[in-house]
Amino acid sequence: MNELAPCVFVLFGATGDLTKRKLAPALYALHREGYLPPTFAVLAYARRDKNDESFRADIKAAITEFAPKLPTEGEDWDSFLARWFYQRGEFDKPEDYAGLSERLTQMDTERNAPCNRLFYLAIPPEQYETVAEQLGKAKLNKTAPDCGAWTRVIIEKPFGYDLETSRQLNETLGRFFGEDQVYRIDHYLGKETVQNILVFRFANEIFEPLWNHKYIDHVQITVSEKIGVEGRGNYFDQSGIARDMLQNHAMQILSLVAMEPPVSLDANAVRDEKVKAVRAIRPIAKNEVSTMTVRGQYSGYRTEEGVASDSITETYAALKLHVDNWRWAGTPFFVRAGKALPSRVTEIAVQFKSIPQVLFAKMKRDDVKPNVLVIRIQPDEGIHLVVGAKEPGQAMNLAPVDLSFSYREAFPDAVIADAYERLLLDAIRGDASLFTRGDEVQASWALLTPILEAWRESGRDVQPYFTNTWGPERANGFLGEGRTWREP
Ligand code: BG6
Repeated sequence: MNELAPCVFVLFGATGDLTKRKLAPALYALHREGYLPPTFAVLAYARRDKNDESFRADIKAAITEFAPKLPTEGEDWDSFLARWFYQRGEFDKPEDYAGLSERLTQMDTERNAPCNRLFYLAIPPEQYETVAEQLGKAKLNKTAPDCGAWTRVIIEKPFGYDLETSRQLNETLGRFFGEDQVYRIDHYLGKETVQNILVFRFANEIFEPLWNHKYIDHVQITVSEKIGVEGRGNYFDQSGIARDMLQNHAMQILSLVAMEPPVSLDANAVRDEKVKAVRAIRPIAKNEVSTMTVRGQYSGYRTEEGVASDSITETYAALKLHVDNWRWAGTPFFVRAGKALPSRVTEIAVQFKSIPQVLFAKMKRDDVKPNVLVIRIQPDEGIHLVVGAKEPGQAMNLAPVDLSFSYREAFPDAVIADAYERLLLDAIRGDASLFTRGDEVQASWALLTPILEAWRESGRDVQPYFTNTWGPERANGFLGEGRTWREP
């Protein structure tokens, strides 16, 4: 199954957590599944004093800890480990990049492989621009004209801190790399069920005619976690949930739900439509922020390690958004994300309009529930359609029942791969469909930034909520017009 072009995967920040938890296990899975060609190699680049051998021992420890079901001995394992090399270097020292360049040339010669390069920046975000610039100065940003190979760069999240910093980051990257060379990660796009949103909407004739303001009352998108900040207080307190999960993961989901059908599945055709959907969202002006958003903080957050004792960082946020285009005029999208909520769940609930009640006029309005289509991203991946049915018995009573599709039941033998596996594979094969384009990131920052500024300026009015509840009290009344949040 060696369908991929050989390349050297240059991993910046290779001694960090992401390598251990996600990247090494994903590469091992790809190796085991036969996707990696024999000459594929990883050159880990980091500041610590290590060599190939000691770094390989770290990789072994990482797989043992984070992918304990996978074997760490035998021929297959040995050949995986033999793909890893280590190069010590600082992020800002030109001489270290000269050393990197030399090592890459040496590896190409030894392996007799074309000089395809995939740079992965798993480093602190404040270093992205430095590394991009140094790669440019060392001429590692462009493929050597004589070998006809490619060079790509993968950037981890967060991509920018607000509109201005994301614009600047895009600009710096643009000075050294073409947009087609840049792969911005949002790992939600690598999730099987997120990709399925597109298939579900456009591979089934029955949904598209209903997918608009005429039939849909509103859409709820929930990205919730049961855990709190779990030792990441230092990072999280500077970020907050809106930057951590709304600007990226939730907005990606929203754009897939709201977008128009693309003309093809080509990366740019899909991304053109996604960005149009985000741009169609009516901006929330600063003076509307108090009515169109809710922000909360869970009890006990301020005593978490790394969190300021007077922190006003939000751990819960909800937005009411209007997608101002022909399809969605008048159908609000409610988006919420939070930590320390009752369960870990990501889902989209599309609530249809109520039926004209003439036929069931004798019943209470509440007894005739509107249809809800729930797309469950995780866990228990699947799709449920809530419809009304007659309750058995002599009376005409209605009850909501569930038409369900479960991934695990429908595809019992399938292993749902980790998002990183899919994303690494796509970056190696040059398919950018599941990566965020520069204009998409900016469109979503353009929406979020005035909200974040208004929150900051308004100071202390972050609403408290108890852990294990669905956010602050105000979130409940926020939907208006008799609507309520669906309890996942
Ligand atoms: C990350 C956030 O992007 O996504 C984390 O930084 C969050 O705070 C994580 O926990 C959630 O990802 P998943 O795949 O577990 O839903």
